[in-house]
Amino acid sequence: MIDPRMSIIKERLTKTGRVIAISSGKGGVGKSMVASALALGLVRRGFRVGLFDVDFTGPSTHIILGVARDVQPVEDRGLVPAEVEGLRYMSLVYFIGDRPAPLRGGEVSNALIELLSVTQWGPLDFLIVDMPPGIGDAVLDLVRLVKKIEFLIITTPSLLAFEVVKKQTVLLGELGIPIIGVVENMKQDNRSHVIESQTEKLGLRYLCGVAFDPKVESVIGHPARLLDTALGEIIEKLERFLAAKKGNADGLQGSDF
Ligand SMILES: Nc1ncnc2c1ncn2[C@@H]1O[C@H](COP(=O)(O)OP(=O)(O)OP(=O)(O)O)[C@@H](O)[C@H]1O
Ligand SMILES: [Mg+2]
Repeated sequence: MIDPRMSIIKERLTKTGRVIAISSGKGGVGKSMVASALALGLVRRGFRVGLFDVDFTGPSTHIILGVARDVQPVEDRGLVPAEVEGLRYMSLVYFIGDRPAPLRGGEVSNALIELLSVTQWGPLDFLIVDMPPGIGDAVLDLVRLVKKIEFLIITTPSLLAFEVVKKQTVLLGELGIPIIGVVENMKQDNRSHVIESQTEKLGLRYLCGVAFDPKVESVIGHPARLLDTALGEIIEKLERFLAAKKGNADGLQGSDF
């Protein structure tokens, strides 16, 4: 049976510009931090940005951005995302709250479909999606629902994290999903090029390294200071990879890269 919400989702996303999933096979590598920093950095450059947290077990961007409890999406022929730090913010947390019981597979898909079909993003240049860890259902669902999605993969310098990147690359490759490249987060040794060479061996673009910065923990909940940490460099380091305005329905109004 065809879900009528599918065509609504397509319609909802016609003006959302580039949709970039921040993803990793591994947990705890900094996806949510990078997603938040990237979104805030793009806002600072004058772009219209949405941030969508689809981590159904451990949503955390609302904590990173210090979103107050009373800041909620507003109902108006759908759900209009709240404005947080100049970006349009939506999270599965509004659906699942703080309940500890994880959603099951079908429920996750359903929540995702529901949220994608009701959210009124309005015109955006970038929609940044903070993914849950792993290469399971959420990745498959999102790829099925959002045709123009592209992936930005986060790893740490650990080969254990990179091992899962390899699996994810194969999966996305089989599905024909574009991968922008790999960001090596929490780098402690600037001279190490291990992940860089492994990434290139995989045929992927090594985008940049981001240093491990002990200040990061202390800016959680203080978004105005997030870009003052090593994560603030990410926007400059990624700008040439984000410059291509693929899929941008509405043209850029912000300062072009
Ligand atoms: N560049 C960095 N320097 C220092 N600490 C960092 C850096 N990036 C992320 N962290 C820290 O690493 C931890 C994990 O970050 P984050 O929650 O963003 O990872 P994640 O990949 O989204 O995790 P999950 O898989 O649970 O969603 C956090 O405590 C965060 O403060
Ligand atoms: Mg996360």
